[in-house]
Amino acid sequence: MSGYYTIHDPHIERVLLTEEDIAEICSSIGARITEDYRGKDLVLVALLRGGLVFLADVCRHIELDLTLDFMAISSYGSGEAVRIVKDLDDDIRGKHVLVVEDLVDTGLTLHYILSVLSGRSPASVAVCTLLDRRARRIADVPIAYRGLEIPDVFVVGYGLDLGGRYRNLPYVAVVRDEVMG
Ligand code: PRP
Repeated sequence: MSGYYTIHDPHIERVLLTEEDIAEICSSIGARITEDYRGKDLVLVALLRGGLVFLADVCRHIELDLTLDFMAISSYGSGEAVRIVKDLDDDIRGKHVLVVEDLVDTGLTLHYILSVLSGRSPASVAVCTLLDRRARRIADVPIAYRGLEIPDVFVVGYGLDLGGRYRNLPYVAVVRDEVMG
């Protein structure tokens, strides 16, 4: 990692992943995916909203003919039963599906998504995530491509939000403890 720097926002404590760090991860994971899926019918699925930014970057490092699709589910934190808010547009039967996430936390979101997608007869389903906050894991989910395991801190930026804000930061930053209560 190329070091921390601070920004002038009272909620942000420090930068955890710089733009350069993220670019390196995208390049390295993209190269691995290119090798692993050569000759296969690949569809990248981003989970909205957070997974959108990582998908946009990593897909440009995959030198294969592929398609993109998007899915959204209601948040596990809402207290209501989880449901699909936006489904895929395309049929994934017989395709190799790679779900692209910004963060795996409890794993409950992916556990649900993987069971839904697996039921649609894809050739394979795998997971690619930028960040893995393994300390909070509840459901064990297989992660094929992992950018970085992070400590149990609240992070924003590069798709990750705090009350809807900060998703457009080009880096990942740690939020101050006081802000999270
Ligand atoms: C975040 C993140 C993952 C999910 C991971 O999404 O993008 O999808 O939480 O958490 P889990 O492993 O505990 O299930 P969020 O629900 O905040 O929605 P968002 O993508 O719209 O920000």
